[in-house]
Amino acid sequence: MKNKDSHSHVSGKSVFIDDIPELQGTLHAVPVLSSIAHARILSTDFSEVKKAAGVIAVLSAKDIEGHNQIGGIIPDEPLFAEEEVHFIGQPIAVIIAETHFAAKEARQKVKIEYEAKEVITDPRIAKEKGHLLFPPRTFSNGDTEKGFQESDYVFYGRADSGSQEHLYLETQGSYAIPLENNNIKVYSSTQGPTLVQKTIASVLGLSMHHIEVDVTRLGGAFGGKEDQATPWAVMAALAVKKLKRPVKIILDREDDMIATGKRHPYTSDFKIGLDKNLKINAFEVSYYQNGGAAADLSPAILERTLFHVTNAYFIPNVKATAYSCKTNITPFTAFRGFGGPQAMFVMESAIALAAEKLQVKASEIQSKNLLKEKDEFHYGQICDSNNARLCWDTLNRSFNIRQLEEDIKSFNAKHIFAKKGLAIMPICFGISFTKTSMNQARALVHVYQDGSIGVSTGAIEMGQGVNTKLMQVAASVFSVDISRIKIESTNTTRVANTSPTAASSGADLNGKALLLACQEILSRLKNKAATILDADILDIELKNEIVLVDKNPTKLRWETLIETAFLDRIKLSEVGHYSTPTINFDKSIEKGHPFAYHVYGTAAITVHLNCITGVYEIEDVKIVHDFGQSINLTLDKGQVEGAVVQGIGWVTTEELDWDEQGNLLANTLSKYKVPDIFSAPKSIETIPLKTKGSEMAILKSKAVGEPPFMYGIGAFFALQDAIKAFNKDYSPDFLAPLTPEKVLLALYSK
Ligand code: MOS
Repeated sequence: MKNKDSHSHVSGKSVFIDDIPELQGTLHAVPVLSSIAHARILSTDFSEVKKAAGVIAVLSAKDIEGHNQIGGIIPDEPLFAEEEVHFIGQPIAVIIAETHFAAKEARQKVKIEYEAKEVITDPRIAKEKGHLLFPPRTFSNGDTEKGFQESDYVFYGRADSGSQEHLYLETQGSYAIPLENNNIKVYSSTQGPTLVQKTIASVLGLSMHHIEVDVTRLGGAFGGKEDQATPWAVMAALAVKKLKRPVKIILDREDDMIATGKRHPYTSDFKIGLDKNLKINAFEVSYYQNGGAAADLSPAILERTLFHVTNAYFIPNVKATAYSCKTNITPFTAFRGFGGPQAMFVMESAIALAAEKLQVKASEIQSKNLLKEKDEFHYGQICDSNNARLCWDTLNRSFNIRQLEEDIKSFNAKHIFAKKGLAIMPICFGISFTKTSMNQARALVHVYQDGSIGVSTGAIEMGQGVNTKLMQVAASVFSVDISRIKIESTNTTRVANTSPTAASSGADLNGKALLLACQEILSRLKNKAATILDADILDIELKNEIVLVDKNPTKLRWETLIETAFLDRIKLSEVGHYSTPTINFDKSIEKGHPFAYHVYGTAAITVHLNCITGVYEIEDVKIVHDFGQSINLTLDKGQVEGAVVQGIGWVTTEELDWDEQGNLLANTLSKYKVPDIFSAPKSIETIPLKTKGSEMAILKSKAVGEPPFMYGIGAFFALQDAIKAFNKDYSPDFLAPLTPEKVLLALYSK
């Protein structure tokens, strides 16, 4: 089954926030953003703004009746700056006007006097000065000191990875509508409707039941709308409360790029110890996470970094410390992989450095250290499969990697100014929110009198196809045609207290809750069928809309069964509740069993490099991926392909930098190079690993959103491999992204 939205997406019929028909009297909001990275606000003057054509109001901190606070984990971020600003793009006020353009025109008339303060953008400097967003954490196992003593080789290095713009096609936005009795209905392009509801209530000084948040779908999110969709929805709702009129806010692309958080840049120091047989004995690492000006989701992201220190390898002695450094940049936030890619890039850099120094192939070191069943992760969980090895071996066999290496060698021998490079990238990614309490979900199912079915869950459709998977789950339990299932919008009045759709776990958590609700209704229906057919309930089955007794079809069909059950006053609605069993984590010792399961895979990435210009192409990506027992390989392969391209973009062409004043340099699409169809790999081939799958995954179909992102990291090392083939003097450093500009410099470096 294809994504159920495919057709309406390509024909332009899918509804996003800005497509919702506007109610009469709708107003439009545009935020006033700080133009200074760190300053005391001496005065604000909106008098000219208020006089401008079409302007209705300017709202700022003094208009807030509740708490001027939107920090999700740590309360350290005001909705509107009051006395100080801490980053360029920080909201100070919001202009409400008859049209978006009137508000935007009026914004030029804002007068703010600042007294500039010291701007810090470098996390290492922030750390030196003691500017941390929250205390550092250390995960460890074994004894690294002893591990290094017992190592034959020890290498030190540094690895830095850059930021990344989510570049969701639909920018941040919200449409809020006044209802009677102070109630507000809010459409929001958010991954976390409950967070939006809760934050609006808190800022407006209302209870949560006054606020209804509704989401049909998002035009992409990638983590950028887990926390950071919230402030815009709060601004719209605040304006609704003040003005009693519908208010819409849709950020322009440039405002979105400047004001909203991105992937955390990391800079890290590592030390790796290996024995003569290339077994990694010990690994130490310090991560300096650039957190930006407020905590946002950084504590959780930093935690996931610490979980993914060793990627897909077993290392007996590990010590990893992570610092979240406070800088004067927009608060960095969730982005596909959630701190995992940053850790895995450091691990792969350490292996690449060791390989370079020892003059062996990185893949030899990788292969010798892959996780095996019963290995203990450094956080205490026991590895429950040999899937890391199985993926690796299947890749080598299925795609004949040895031959590929030979082909590349002979290509490089034949060409002077064109070189190819190859890298192998294994991955291992833990599935579950690392905060145990977030691993819960609910689903509400109605079977209507005519046999059609309405499903509400907490899952957010953001293009990944979760709604399609949910339809499959409901249809499979009842064994009815997929056309009978409708997935309703995600709405806080139907399904409450939801976790954001994030951590790759949307289909697992909401799917399991849906499964439970459907099974409950199914057992009532079977009971009814047993009565009608005078059979034992254990012999009853529903298959393709027909009731079977002892595997034999009867005349009783789905529609009749439902009609009869309804007339007999049987409950045809149910709420399912799921909370992931067995998971736990004890922060006081940093040990536990935080993940329901792990996802594994291995990719081989080949690049082609023009050694005169530094321009490169990603030739192909070959992958063996652990989908478990995929219930929808079309969707799942789509997720792999999209993630791979996004991962490649992160380490190759997507470059975000800030100048010393804290200005984002790539603040428009003309300055930010996201992979397009020409720079995407020429081919991506994905083979599913043959495996039984995990009972903890929905219908044994493993989570797929984030894990394949990390395959992209291989492009960085494949490029280095190609550079080495041209420049024998090249000594690699580990500073991602490796843009064509940096490649050109590397090709001719001494
Ligand atoms: Mo995702 S990066 O866990 O929203």
